[in-house]
Amino acid sequence: MIDKKDLLELISVPFKLEGLKPRFIRISSAHISGISYNNIGEEGLELLKELLSSGLKITVSTTINPGFCELEKKDCDSETCKKQLEIVEIFKKLGAKPTLSCIPYLLGNIPKKGDHVAWAESNAVLYTNSVIGAWSNKESGLTALASAILGITSYYGVHLEENRIPKVKVNFNFKLRDEVDAGLAGFVLGKVVKDSIPLVPNLFKSRYNLIEFLASVGTSGVIPLVVVEDVTPISVSKEHISQMQSLSIDEEEINTAKSSLENLKNEEDAILLGCPHFSFKEVEDLLKLNRKRDKFIFVFVPKEVKVEAEKRYSKELNDKNIKLVSDSCILWCGIISRNYRKVITNSIKGAYYLRNVLKVEVGIRRKSEIMDV
Ligand code: F3S
Repeated sequence: MIDKKDLLELISVPFKLEGLKPRFIRISSAHISGISYNNIGEEGLELLKELLSSGLKITVSTTINPGFCELEKKDCDSETCKKQLEIVEIFKKLGAKPTLSCIPYLLGNIPKKGDHVAWAESNAVLYTNSVIGAWSNKESGLTALASAILGITSYYGVHLEENRIPKVKVNFNFKLRDEVDAGLAGFVLGKVVKDSIPLVPNLFKSRYNLIEFLASVGTSGVIPLVVVEDVTPISVSKEHISQMQSLSIDEEEINTAKSSLENLKNEEDAILLGCPHFSFKEVEDLLKLNRKRDKFIFVFVPKEVKVEAEKRYSKELNDKNIKLVSDSCILWCGIISRNYRKVITNSIKGAYYLRNVLKVEVGIRRKSEIMDV
């Protein structure tokens, strides 16, 4: 039987490792990752069942990440999807909102500036810290769940003001033309700054490009926060900036990163967009463009985006061979059931995980290489 003491033990680990007395702070919300059956498997499902039978309940506003299947569709192995549904039902019974999306910050789980929260899912953590100005460490699925139940999180890391001050100024010596450049810049940045909070110029042409940048930082690195000039609500004195160590990322570094992520040798079987999930606006923007390639485009979106977009744009979606997939991560059972072995995506995070987790061949293509922009 799992009880609150066990959960407290779990979130106290960072202090125990340092031999310190644990300290906690109240949270206003939680976001839980690691709910995909492909990720947690039978062992994770059993743990969730045990937690549910212990009678514990979530006590703060809590959303959940995408899973592995579309819950109402039968286009994947039915046993796996039954298990995925079971996981979602357990989270509902525990008291989480079944949002099944990695963009909770656009779906109503929007903390206020200065709120302390316990979020897992690295792109969401980076967005909440760097754009909204809420405060969250990069939680694991389990620690976020423990905090969602306890209503508190460990008071360390970027919950402390002094750890939110940038330590290194980073310049980009190339033009961030689009989402792929932004993603590659983030991927290189996450590696080079290690655990130092960076200050970067706001060279992002859209919110979408900024989201792709932050998602990539979370993929390659450990930092939960990037201070983006004129975006992040943190004031840094000119004096502090002038004393900061500075470093640059150049075009050659992002080209090297791109080559290291790609292994597609021939033409793709399918095109995958929406990592992190596309918002309604991003779906609308996509539908305004004409296609350049003839393969199916699968776009991963929150359920409410799929329902609304299919209601308003069913003809356009059909004409353009675009399929909206809800409830699921880009690491989707449909890729396996349809036997796609070669895919392209515009997401650096997507490319990294598709290649390393689903073991498919991956090519990175800009939206302008997929559609007539
Ligand atoms: Fe979302 Fe999955 Fe990408 S959780 S950020 S679609 S790897």
